[in-house]
Amino acid sequence: MRPISAAMPQSRFRRLRASPAVRAMVQENTLSVADLIWPVFVRDGVGLREPIHSMPDVNRLSVDLVVEAAKEAADLGIPAICLFPYTDASLKTVGCEEAWNPDNLTNRAIRAIKDAVPQIAVMTDVALDPYNADGHDGLVRDGIILNDESVAALVKQALVQAEAGADILGPSDMMDGRIGAIRVALEAAGHKDVAIMSYAAKYASAFYGPFRDAVGATGALKGDKKTYQMNPANSDEALRMIERDLREGADMVMIKPGMPYLDICQRVKAMFGAPTFAYQVSGEYAMIMAAAQNGWIDGDRAMVESLMAFKRAGCDGVLTYFAPRVARLLGGASPV
Ligand code: PBG
Repeated sequence: MRPISAAMPQSRFRRLRASPAVRAMVQENTLSVADLIWPVFVRDGVGLREPIHSMPDVNRLSVDLVVEAAKEAADLGIPAICLFPYTDASLKTVGCEEAWNPDNLTNRAIRAIKDAVPQIAVMTDVALDPYNADGHDGLVRDGIILNDESVAALVKQALVQAEAGADILGPSDMMDGRIGAIRVALEAAGHKDVAIMSYAAKYASAFYGPFRDAVGATGALKGDKKTYQMNPANSDEALRMIERDLREGADMVMIKPGMPYLDICQRVKAMFGAPTFAYQVSGEYAMIMAAAQNGWIDGDRAMVESLMAFKRAGCDGVLTYFAPRVARLLGGASPV
């Protein structure tokens, strides 16, 4: 595309900004509730709503309240909810066995939501960190994060999630080869319609800090995740990983974090045209909320502008902790 325009005064760009009606006519991108995936934190117990200090207005919810949240999301028109478990420290082991317990917190929450609100799509996180005594996404031996052994464990975790009724599996672990292994196992087990959204380009980022507080992983994590999550300096590598995951059977791909990596979103969508999502992660949410709470920015406007940026970059949707708030602001169906 090579946009052309006349010189001044034949061309005046301000003509098409002169009124709300004309601005609406020429708006290139829109944000709607159908673009949203809402990540929620699940904890044990009944009737519990536990605030997360570093994520204002976000709570860890017991399964009964997660079901209420799913109902609220469905009523608002949000198409999908994504579950993250806050696992009790006593269940974290070196072998991560709780990850493939068919009755673990995530699987109980999937069943309860699918029972009460079948119309909402349930997405899960496939990674070992909530269950790992070492806090890593893969199995650790002698300080090394094992790849192939972790993939075998992730396959077991993915299968129990599919069995519990998950619609979309989100492998966020960054081990090599896990998409293909999970896809083969799903087909063999008859879960042919379970979709995979690969966290294909996931960077080793400082912006996950509040999330690790939310799932209780901050204390557990030994070292960092740089041997499996990507170097923030790299961009071509992201394209190669996206291509690899698509070839292995990913239905959708994700870039994470979001706003600092919009260039990656744009390159990925332009190159592959696959359903492409961004994760506006906990640290991005926390920054906007903190500035808004200090009165330094307008929270609603910054929220909408940050989400619109993902659409402009070419994303098909966004995982965001703002999902219910922006859905309420959008008032259901009409896009902004
Ligand atoms: C871990 C996982 C992380 C997030 C989603 N899944 C954190 C990490 O990799 O340490 C981060 C999400 C957020 O920050 O909002 N499997």
